Amino acid sequence: MTSYNDAKLDTLIQDPIAEMRRTVATPEEIEALNYLQDLDLMNGAIDTQGQPIRADDKMIIRGKSDVNQLIPFKYEWAWQKYLDASANHWMPQEVAMTKDISQWKTEGELTEDERMIVMRALGFFSTADSVVMNNLTLAINEWITSPEHRQYIATQIKEESIHQHAYQYIIESLGMDQEFVFNMYRKVPSMTAKSAWCIHHTVDVSDRSKFATEDDFDRAMLKNLVSQYVVMEGIFFYCGFASVLSMGRRNKLPGTCEQFQYILRDESMHLNFGVDTYNQIKIEQPHLFTPEFNKHVRMMVISGTLLEIAFARDTAPRGILGYNASDMEDYLKFIADRRLEQLGLEVFFKVKNNPFQWMSEMMDLRKERNFFERKILDYQSSSSLSWDDF
Ligand SMILES: [Fe+2]
Ligand SMILES: [Fe+2]
Repeated sequence: MTSYNDAKLDTLIQDPIAEMRRTVATPEEIEALNYLQDLDLMNGAIDTQGQPIRADDKMIIRGKSDVNQLIPFKYEWAWQKYLDASANHWMPQEVAMTKDISQWKTEGELTEDERMIVMRALGFFSTADSVVMNNLTLAINEWITSPEHRQYIATQIKEESIHQHAYQYIIESLGMDQEFVFNMYRKVPSMTAKSAWCIHHTVDVSDRSKFATEDDFDRAMLKNLVSQYVVMEGIFFYCGFASVLSMGRRNKLPGTCEQFQYILRDESMHLNFGVDTYNQIKIEQPHLFTPEFNKHVRMMVISGTLLEIAFARDTAPRGILGYNASDMEDYLKFIADRRLEQLGLEVFFKVKNNPFQWMSEMMDLRKERNFFERKILDYQSSSSLSWDDF
């Protein structure tokens, strides 16, 4: 094995463009080389005098070290989340929808309330994951300066696209009017309000020049982080998740529920990544977290929860078999307080008991493996889902 050392560096071609000028002849080649010359590749884009980065120089935001150099690791936990997420890879078309199609098309298999819940959940989710994905691309990714975090975010972007695919696959499989469902977030005000709330936080940070100071911008970005990771992925998804998964516990729409179960597991990782990132920034940039800022973030979580409760009242006004409307509200308040605690903020709703204890078990596929008619066998990356009928 050859080693790559400084002595060998001395023998390298020092000027690739000059080297190619020695041999090219056509006018097009010369024009191409002139174009390369104008780019001045050896000066500017990459600091050629720079040294390998040091872990201590990395920071989640405001880092000055090269974002293209992954190692040495500083944020092992973010890298581990990337590994964990990669091991959970799944694709929607690997899930059978035969029973769902039969139930959806057979009169009397589902109540009208159950049908409305499924439609509303899909109406919201079919665009919500796009809202999250676009925010990661347009706002979060650029702001983050840690390569380990960017590695995870790239994986999350892929997962959001898989979730969108899953919703589209369910909507198509059940034979729903796709245009109607995808357009629902414009037409159901309690749905519009939630998505608009998130999009507001994306638009808010789109013009960096409007912020007087770097601190102002970073606080707006932290609010963006909370709006998407904590409120959108940690609260706005939960009425829909809990409603549909509750039906799955009664063997209604098992393929749909199975996909929701995988999505819930992914989303809970996204939430935890967002919370861990927020709390690490709190350690690295404590001056950003003023009492006024903390108060605002707490208000964001509370206001988001109120929007989710309004959505729940619209979507499941009477509840369905398995839960009633007040259980759902208590559940949303219960998880909202957990989100506040995760952010180091004072709880607000103070609901003592989780009425949907089973939801936490839904994220652990091992515990729920006998949940559906078919048995889930553990699966990892590079293998598709395996099923064992029983
Ligand atoms: Fe998602
Ligand atoms: Fe997500």
